Amino acid sequence: MKITHATKPLRGEIVVPGDKSISHRSIMFGALANGDTVVRGFLKSADCISTMNCFKAMGIEIEEGSDGEGDFILIHGKGLHGLSKPGSSLDCGNSGTTTRLISGILAGQDFETVLIGDESLSKRPMKRVIEPLSTLGASIASMNDDDRLPLVIGKGELHGGVIRTRVASAQVKSAILLSGLYADGETSVIEPSLSRNHTELMLKAFGADITAGSAEDTRTSVRPGRELKGMTVKVPGDISSAAFFIGAALLIPGSRVMLKNVGINPTRDGILKVFMDMGADITVENVRYETGEKCADILVNYSPELKGTTIGGDIIPALIDEIPLIAVVAAGAEGDTVIKDASELRVKESDRISLTVGNLNAMGASAEARDDGMVIHGGSPLHHAVIDTAKDHRIAMSFSVAALISESVQPVDIRDSACVGISYPGFYKDLDSLMG
Ligand code: S3P
Repeated sequence: MKITHATKPLRGEIVVPGDKSISHRSIMFGALANGDTVVRGFLKSADCISTMNCFKAMGIEIEEGSDGEGDFILIHGKGLHGLSKPGSSLDCGNSGTTTRLISGILAGQDFETVLIGDESLSKRPMKRVIEPLSTLGASIASMNDDDRLPLVIGKGELHGGVIRTRVASAQVKSAILLSGLYADGETSVIEPSLSRNHTELMLKAFGADITAGSAEDTRTSVRPGRELKGMTVKVPGDISSAAFFIGAALLIPGSRVMLKNVGINPTRDGILKVFMDMGADITVENVRYETGEKCADILVNYSPELKGTTIGGDIIPALIDEIPLIAVVAAGAEGDTVIKDASELRVKESDRISLTVGNLNAMGASAEARDDGMVIHGGSPLHHAVIDTAKDHRIAMSFSVAALISESVQPVDIRDSACVGISYPGFYKDLDSLMG
């Protein structure tokens, strides 16, 4: 994809697609529930389709339909013990969420399964789920003994217990909690900072016996013995997808964009806090709750006086996926932005510290990589470059935003831009619609 600088402001309204984290969970918990689950606002992206296909392969019937309220997904749940052994390995594609959450569920089944994934996923660390699930009695191992995919998960004896995690990861926390549905006692997770809590909110809504943690006390516990009951899930728009339009509107002169129905769960809203702290003109309106999730409409105006900031500590899990985009906005702001305590970025779909810094510098910005983050010296004009995305969807979308504020006539070349389909298949179409 070749993108030149924006010649006009971004104007208009977007309903961003459904939240990826919530969409994954709606399929998983719907499959494990008794009775039907209807999901509205489901994100039909490559990652969520990977989750859907894994559950179809384990005998779950999933239909797609449409009625007066719009498109929906209908999952015919078979209860906690209704999954059947798949005919072959389960392919998680590019999706870390599919892999890690499903590991917790598979740990409770009495059949053996092998999990595989694409090149990027096959490089990502799985020890973080292998270790705690093994401690809790699961039978789970890396086939090549390298803590990477393929994973073999068989019948274990889950006994519950308390796990203290080293990193604040919702994927790890969720895997542990899901295994707890199959344990013979209470399972608790204590994390260093509170990570996104969609699993806790949705499991509770499905009827699980769960006590969620808080920012002050992150201990989250689940007790076995209750069946999950099918329900209707309304998926709010994904703040991680809205982020790209928020960033673009802040940077492009004259812009004014309304983003409708965006999830602003407090474990996910770090980007709003950081941008407001940098001097952004953002208004959050019409706050409401859907299936326990806080959502709102977000109005963003061009903000010419953005200032650099320092980001670290407990806010990091609440904006972890937005850091490449925040770095792009920081490059357009005055002064330095320091991002620390974010070494998790090195083990996402790509090494997002190296790629973000490398691509920013290729465009003429001034940025330095640190082990656990980066420093961006804002204010240098950006110019044309070839962007190495390593097929990472969030890198592709972040640098598409950077391209819009680049100053050279030659376009910025976003390599492998089709990877946006991992989380936002309609990204370029929606961007075009705002450009009039
Ligand atoms: C996710 C959790 C985050 C995030 C990922 C989705 C989830 O990962 O980066 O895109 O849905 O649970 P970690 O919590 O493992 O950092």
